[in-house]
Amino acid sequence: MFAPLLLLLARPSYGTQHVYQWRDAVTNKQLTCQRCPPGTFVLQHCTENNQTWCEHCPDLHYTQYWNYLEKCRYCNVICGEKQVEVQQCNATHNRVCQCQDGYYSEMEFCNRHSKCPPGFGVEKLGTPFENTQCGACPRGFFSSSSSSTEPCQPHQDCEQQGKVVNVEGNRYHDTLCTSCGPMGTDHRIPGDDDCEQAMIDFVAYQNIPIRKLKRLQQILEHTPRMQAEGTRAAMQEKFHALLTRLKDGSPVTKELLRALRTARLYSIEEQARERFLLR
Ligand SMILES: *[C@@H]1O[C@H](CO)[C@@H](O)[C@H](O)[C@H]1NC(C)=O
Ligand SMILES: *[C@@H]1O[C@H](CO)[C@@H](O)[C@H](O)[C@H]1NC(C)=O
Repeated sequence: MFAPLLLLLARPSYGTQHVYQWRDAVTNKQLTCQRCPPGTFVLQHCTENNQTWCEHCPDLHYTQYWNYLEKCRYCNVICGEKQVEVQQCNATHNRVCQCQDGYYSEMEFCNRHSKCPPGFGVEKLGTPFENTQCGACPRGFFSSSSSSTEPCQPHQDCEQQGKVVNVEGNRYHDTLCTSCGPMGTDHRIPGDDDCEQAMIDFVAYQNIPIRKLKRLQQILEHTPRMQAEGTRAAMQEKFHALLTRLKDGSPVTKELLRALRTARLYSIEEQARERFLLR
């Protein structure tokens, strides 16, 4: 849209860029006229006796440069869906639009900033011009949510809290600590809430295949079939949430051990029993 104006501006100027050559239609003489300043246009070209007559641009029209246009340009930029006006149309500038918060422009469209999936964190926040940049969480960090703003978080330090590691953290979830005493101490009281939570945490984040996780969920919820799909990390989160929900109703320990056996997850059942002294 600036092409015609740029062409005019690109013509050789004589001495100063604020003048232009013009042939008077009446006398056929070549004249050097003054250009009009930004915000105005040429109402009348100069004559032998008169300077160029410049006028202000009407509403919704502009000229950005020293010019000899006979009409101002129309502010032809219209802000579309998902855009906001960041520069109003005035006598010297066209309207300027930009993608609204949470969107970036790509091929003339405003697309929503991507979310980084679990296991990935935001390395660079999206801008109106650039999408979010995600990176896999490095060792010692995790991200359990799908987010366009959250970076990876460091795993918590159980020792610092005077607790022990119950479940090692990975890219998808935090380290889970417990004060349900370490192995070999007699701090553990079966049925104790801390220990019950610790057992839930322990079981939920074992390397249980998705198929078996679904089976467990089915057994514990007494539902015919789990339709939820997703990655194992997502399934583990769901399973963990389910167990925590069940626990809030009534003690879930026994039921969980029974479910593990029904799902033929004998070694996990055994580990849970040993670890939490549920003999
Ligand atoms: C010279 O320009 C003025 C306005 O700048 C205008 O009023 C006048 O009519 C013009 N004179 C001639 C001879 O064109
Ligand atoms: C027109 O808008 C531009 C860009 O926002 C600004 O720099 C300029 O001062 C404005 N001019 C007037 C007359 O308001």
